[in-house]
Amino acid sequence: MLKVIKNIAFSIFLLGLTAQVNAQELFVFQNGNLKADNGKVAKVFLGVPVKVKKDMGSSTKVSIHGFLDGTNVYSSEKKELLIAVLDEGFKPTTIKGTEVELVGTIEKELLTENGAEVWEEHEEFFFEMCTQCHAAQAPSHHTMIEWEALMLPMRGFAKLDDEENSYLLRYLKSNASNGLVKVKH
Ligand code: HEC
Repeated sequence: MLKVIKNIAFSIFLLGLTAQVNAQELFVFQNGNLKADNGKVAKVFLGVPVKVKKDMGSSTKVSIHGFLDGTNVYSSEKKELLIAVLDEGFKPTTIKGTEVELVGTIEKELLTENGAEVWEEHEEFFFEMCTQCHAAQAPSHHTMIEWEALMLPMRGFAKLDDEENSYLLRYLKSNASNGLVKVKH
């Protein structure tokens, strides 16, 4: 009897373990390429969450969830944040309407478990540029669209050039309350 219970307990433990592995979510550490089975590539941006499907050695088979418009893939239906750009011939899987899943392999070294780690340099730049006049508000304090509006005047205040502005905006939107990194309030 005890043995049966032990076996059952062990099976439940194993089930839990596989469920965990299947559901594992990682983040793209820097801009990189997702390669489909047919060899076509999607460019994916840093901070994008990926679901692990299969370990392939030096690369990992993953899926990315988004919303398609032409060859652009956005994090939301409202197209507030570009998360991937598809090469011609890269075929996303349609979930419904414009909602799609991109499946392909990505180099393992481009992935991280730690979502915050992705944004360390951005965060430093944010504090450097945006705390001269007032305390910084956490990116999660606003939605993506709010950050876009807020950055119009603040960009001028902080004297950001185009590149610095889009660098910072990507950080703020990715970490916004409805961004890529889901934070519980
Ligand atoms: C030169 C001074 C200055 C700099 C630099 C500056 N800000 Fe501001 N910021 C202000 C002032 C003044 C206000 C309040 C008036 C307003 O809303 O326009 C403000 C307001 C804000 C608010 C709105 C606060 C609220 O609750 O309404 C946010 C968010 C913000 N700034 C973010 C930023 C970010 C992000 C940066 C860096 C890119 C930045 N600021 C750089 C002067 C500055």
